[in-house]
Amino acid sequence: MPRIIPRLDAVVTSRQHGGKKRLPQELMSAYSLIMDFGYHWIWTHGHLLVGVLALAGLGLARRRLHPALLAGLALIGLWGVTSFWIIQERFLFNRPVPLPTARFLPGGAGRVLDLGAGSGRATIGVLRDRPFSEVTAVDLFGNSFGIPDNSGERLLKNVAAAGFAGRVRVQVGDMRKLPFTDEKFDAALSVAAVDHLRHDDVMKTFAEVRRVLKPGGELLVVAINRDGWMRFVFPFFHGHYFGTRPMREIWRQRFVEAGYTIIEDGSVPGALYMLARTPTASPALP
Ligand SMILES: C[S@@+](CC[C@H](N)C(=O)[O-])C[C@H]1O[C@@H](n2cnc3c(N)ncnc32)[C@H](O)[C@@H]1O
Repeated sequence: MPRIIPRLDAVVTSRQHGGKKRLPQELMSAYSLIMDFGYHWIWTHGHLLVGVLALAGLGLARRRLHPALLAGLALIGLWGVTSFWIIQERFLFNRPVPLPTARFLPGGAGRVLDLGAGSGRATIGVLRDRPFSEVTAVDLFGNSFGIPDNSGERLLKNVAAAGFAGRVRVQVGDMRKLPFTDEKFDAALSVAAVDHLRHDDVMKTFAEVRRVLKPGGELLVVAINRDGWMRFVFPFFHGHYFGTRPMREIWRQRFVEAGYTIIEDGSVPGALYMLARTPTASPALP
């Protein structure tokens, strides 16, 4: 594939030379107009529909309804509209995902594996925020996990729309059994993907990622979290989906059990993130 040095790439690079690391938010918003990340409308616009219906009901029936019912409709309306804003502007369902930490590939270069890349939100985030990186986007590309008609073609279209077409390759595959040779990548990340797997499958994935990363390679996981944002927007989910144990503790334990060293953890709205490293050398033989 020809290497394309796109205009937005140039913006990133020149800004980095000026000391800034990311594209401004306005440009990220502009991306969402020319990309289709494919999330089902019920996720991206369902809350808005509920909010608008509640507010319309309030407007139409305000003289006939009991004040308690009117107050209820007003609250549902406000909740729906506010949740829609959070989904768009804080959870970034329809935007490239900015990298949450400057410590992931700080040199801006390297071979990166995006696990469960889907329609490319995180792939584009890496390509944009780490201007000399190349990404291999791996996914089952099945019809589940909130993205109907999930496909490598859609990912490539989005990456091309962002202007990064020459720096990505798509691989259909299972993150629990990665179709790559050992020590091929400098870093890997998974955004809202490995956290959808059962514990055993997460551990299989962590072992596989350790195999395909070079010694001292980095793994960044951004996992949906039961924080205040999430509780507000999805108040009915939490019992069965997330369980009750603190999620940070669960992820810490998984990383440590799989032999990684955690170097940073933190949070963004609706998610926690952990950045970890594989050992720099294989353990000495007895
Ligand atoms: C909610 S989507 C997230 C996609 C993307 N990372 C994002 O942030 O928009 C979860 C993705 O994980 C993928 N996935 C789930 N299990 C997988 C597995 N075992 N191997 C590879 N991909 C998987 C799904 O196909 C889906 O594209």
